[in-house]
Amino acid sequence: MKNIYFLGGGNICAALLGRLKDDTRFRLFVAEQNPERQDFLRQNFSVEVNTTLPELTPNDILLLAVKPQDMQNALQNVQHHGALILSIAAGLPCKTLSKWLNNTHRIVRIMPNTPAQIGMGMAGLFADCEVSAEDKNQAEYIMNAVGKTFWVNEEDELHTVTAVSGSGPAYVFYMMNAMFQAAISLGMDSKTAKTAILQTVIGSAQLAEQSEEDFAELQRKVTSKGGTTAAALSIFDEAKLTTIMQQALEACHHRSVEMGQSID
Ligand SMILES: NC(=O)c1ccc[n+]([C@@H]2O[C@H](COP(=O)([O-])OP(=O)(O)OC[C@H]3O[C@@H](n4cnc5c(N)ncnc54)[C@H](OP(=O)(O)O)[C@@H]3O)[C@@H](O)[C@H]2O)c1
Repeated sequence: MKNIYFLGGGNICAALLGRLKDDTRFRLFVAEQNPERQDFLRQNFSVEVNTTLPELTPNDILLLAVKPQDMQNALQNVQHHGALILSIAAGLPCKTLSKWLNNTHRIVRIMPNTPAQIGMGMAGLFADCEVSAEDKNQAEYIMNAVGKTFWVNEEDELHTVTAVSGSGPAYVFYMMNAMFQAAISLGMDSKTAKTAILQTVIGSAQLAEQSEEDFAELQRKVTSKGGTTAAALSIFDEAKLTTIMQQALEACHHRSVEMGQSID
């Protein structure tokens, strides 16, 4: 049985606790500074919660889940003794974490996203140079508890993961909200509009997942020439929505690089 120590008991930590608390492979512990949050975690997950971490062993796993700006301070008195480090902190490079953790390179950096809270997350993972194949299996197993995972070979690729799936849920919510506003302006009541948009997005995503066809082909299949859908899509084309999406993801990627450099 492995011990997983969470540093920071926020949203992502709670999502993982919910999915891993009954897994007999792990014993779970949380270091959380906020007393109200400590009570919440104890009550909801029957987990041991303290304010700080104990001394760890090389057999332990330490999952860093505080905000990037709180990380250096949070790591100050951590005695990890070579434990496997998993970090979900956005934008904090391995070399910076390593500097704050007595030069260990047994670090897996993870870029998750918010649907992890309901077990539908998408996480990109990168392994630093001291991470073994067994460590990679552990990291993957833990993150698969809250969704799907894939590995990247270069740490810089995590900027692209941020631009696609890390920030992706916000793009989808943005589009849903824009559809919602338009539905209201066309006279649909808000309850019906919400249901209609949710079911359309969920249904389309599941159809795409189950289909052999790519996104472009699926779109073509629901677009008859001169029809209603074509009328709507012509407005997207005129506004160059594909170019806008390209620019948006590039801006996100650029900001991710910039933030990483400023932390460094
Ligand atoms: N949410 C996402 O989908 C998502 C996606 C990608 C990456 N991430 C990364 O995941 C990390 C955690 O995100 P989150 O949304 O779960 O954050 P969060 O809800 O803010 O949780 C962090 C928790 O850690 C506590 N904390 C701060 N410093 C501490 C310390 N020194 N010792 C013990 N506990 C401490 C905070 O307490 P206080 O509230 O008192 O400060 C807070 O309860 C962040 O680094 C973020 O970049 C999150």
